[in-house]
Amino acid sequence: MRQRSYLKLFAICGILFFFAIVLTLERSSAAVPQGNPAAEWTRSKHANRERAVAEATVENRGTTAAHCGRCHSEQGFLAWLPQLLAGDSGLIKKPDGTAADVEYLRSLGLTVDRVRPITCQTCHGDDFEPRIRDNTPMLPAGFEAWAVGEGALCMTCHNTRNGRIQWDTADPGRYTAPHESAQADVLMGKNSFFLNDTVDRASAHALFTSDSCVTCHLTLGKDGHTFKPSETVCANCHGPSMTIQFVQKPIETLLTQVKAAIERRVLAVRDQIGVVRKWDPATGQYTDNFPLDGKQITKVAEILSIQGQIGFRFSLTDGREIYARAGEIWDTPGGRRIFATSDPIIRACWNYLLIEHDGSLGVHNPSFARDVLTATLNALR
Ligand code: HEC
Ligand code: HEC
Ligand code: HEC
Ligand code: HEC
Ligand code: HEC
Repeated sequence: MRQRSYLKLFAICGILFFFAIVLTLERSSAAVPQGNPAAEWTRSKHANRERAVAEATVENRGTTAAHCGRCHSEQGFLAWLPQLLAGDSGLIKKPDGTAADVEYLRSLGLTVDRVRPITCQTCHGDDFEPRIRDNTPMLPAGFEAWAVGEGALCMTCHNTRNGRIQWDTADPGRYTAPHESAQADVLMGKNSFFLNDTVDRASAHALFTSDSCVTCHLTLGKDGHTFKPSETVCANCHGPSMTIQFVQKPIETLLTQVKAAIERRVLAVRDQIGVVRKWDPATGQYTDNFPLDGKQITKVAEILSIQGQIGFRFSLTDGREIYARAGEIWDTPGGRRIFATSDPIIRACWNYLLIEHDGSLGVHNPSFARDVLTATLNALR
């Protein structure tokens, strides 16, 4: 062979080698995630082991770890998942179908020394595929979400978890608050009083963003597995002028107005209040028959969920702050409840907490958030 041919062969080999390297690099960058999921995850509340210890262990919760442990621990979620997929969103049961007892929950690892928070294994196995996608099973909040992509995984835990409410009932018959995780309900437009939620009010953000929660909180997020959406997330789909504040500002205004309307109703009957079951946020303990002269109440400083029930933080003339659940406020010890479950302010408080607990100030479902709050204002007129 002449020297020229050797040079040509050499050049061709070189070019082939170059493309081989480029192709390999491209393939591995498709398989390797952007960022560092493990480091990002440790900065998110999913890694909060204290919460798992508090809510998902038999030492701290006895058999109710079968309730809270479903979403607050890896072990509880993985034990619950097959049951959920089979159509039973209720508390964790034993394989024979009976209620989980302390011994069984202990065997799952729901103990102070072994419980794990929302770990990698909770959301996906080693293949990194989400354990649930596209359709949710029937959720503890009493509805299903269809064709929501990978967001179906998130919705399994991020829902109000207290059953389906009847929007037009005159008496819900309970003081239950929506859980802090109201996101799926708001995205899908479910579980509002005064506003017909049996018609389709699901947000385009749930239905037409391919993976719903995962699109905004991971794919278009700023720090991967911290699940924080970026400050400019809206611009990806709506153009650079659309900001988070465009939605949050009017919804904040309405939330303030609803809270003021509830407060007016409470202050109108404050003179009747004589006794409450007082709650201490520092210890989580209650004091029965705590005398509270309602005339001393100057303000409803906060509407909140007190261990799952609608409650208030009152400010008093002497500067004290008193917490009590709405159903544990009477005129005299053992006397008449000031707020019956049929009182519209109980349904109004649910709606207020639904939008507040969602945490996005309307972004998840702008029209639904607005309609819930305006319907609540009308009902309190
Ligand atoms: C269906 C799933 C689910 C169940 C069941 C559940 N939780 Fe949660 N909980 C969540 C999610 C998700 C969050 C996070 C919400 C957020 O950050 O917006 C949360 C948040 C909380 C918080 C933090 C609230 C805050 O202000 O930050 C507490 C406390 C809590 N849950 C207690 C409980 C207790 C007690 C139980 C059992 C009685 C329970 N949870 C059952 C899903 C659940
Ligand atoms: C709250 C649920 C959740 C937790 C916890 C979680 N992941 Fe993920 N992870 C997801 C979802 C959803 C995807 C799919 C994202 C996509 O479509 O690209 C994913 C994708 C991945 C991928 C695939 C590559 C990518 O980014 O697309 C890797 C690798 C990964 N996760 C690693 C981890 C590790 C390691 C941990 C624990 C430190 C972890 N994940 C914890 C939900 C979770
Ligand atoms: C197994 C139940 C579970 C699943 C599945 C789950 N979460 Fe969570 N998530 C939680 C709990 C519990 C908390 C609150 C923990 C706490 O406050 O201690 C939380 C908190 C959050 C927060 C607040 C985080 C922060 O660091 O401030 C966001 C955002 C969030 N989750 C998004 C998601 C998204 C997006 C998905 C789906 C990819 C998802 N979650 C799937 C249980 C879950
Ligand atoms: C259209 C994009 C979008 C979609 C879809 C979306 N989110 Fe959000 N989410 C946001 C934005 C933006 C915020 C507000 C962040 C802020 O105010 O800083 C937010 C707030 C939150 C918060 C409160 C954040 C915190 O730190 O307390 C949680 C929890 C949450 N989202 C979970 C979810 C879950 C679960 C889903 C699906 C069921 C979901 N989101 C779907 C954009 C989205
Ligand atoms: C992944 C894409 C995507 C992202 C990110 C996104 N949106 Fe949307 N949004 C849509 C789609 C799709 C619609 C429905 C079509 C339309 O109205 O343009 C919509 C509709 C809306 C609507 C009208 C919906 C209603 O309920 O009446 C508002 C308001 C809105 N988005 C605000 C925002 C804000 C604010 C953000 C940032 C926090 C945001 N969007 C982020 C895709 C997105």
